[in-house]
Amino acid sequence: MYQLVLALHLLGAAVWTGGHLILSLAVLPAALRRRELAPLQAFEARFERVGLPALAVQVLTGLWLAHRLAPTPNAWFSIEGQLERHIGAKLVLLGLTVALAAHARLRLIPRLTPERLPLLAAHIVAVTATAVLFVLVGLDVRFGAWL
Ligand code: HEM
Repeated sequence: MYQLVLALHLLGAAVWTGGHLILSLAVLPAALRRRELAPLQAFEARFERVGLPALAVQVLTGLWLAHRLAPTPNAWFSIEGQLERHIGAKLVLLGLTVALAAHARLRLIPRLTPERLPLLAAHIVAVTATAVLFVLVGLDVRFGAWL
């Protein structure tokens, strides 16, 4: 069961973090140069269909993995234990991802114009950086070198 859940967690990570890296590194630079929204909107419309289910998989498998390593959720925000610190960091990154997604959905996208492209760009880079941090924190659960 652990191997299956970890495999799902790694596949979800490949979709979520990989998709955002392609958006930031391959789609965004050209859209900024040409001041065009369409390439970003086209990518987001396709990515959303696999990205959001992948994020749901990350939350469900992540909570299962966290509970397996540290069975007392009350301790997940304690900075005492190394495992708890990693889980707490994951939950903070999750809160940040949800806040950025809500801001985009409610404030940014409804009022999107080419003039607001730099704001959208900053937003895309912030979500991508959070996605990369999810991978680094997850990997560090094995090594315990950073947290
Ligand atoms: C988009 C979101 C996420 C991404 C990209 C992500 C990515 C990763 C990666 C790449 C690993 C390393 C797996 C390995 O060592 O083979 C990992 C491990 C882990 N992740 Fe996540 N993760 C995400 C969300 C979450 C969430 C929300 C939680 C919940 C608290 C979580 C909890 C864990 C735990 C506990 C491990 C260690 C598993 C183990 O070694 O037994 N992750 N994550």
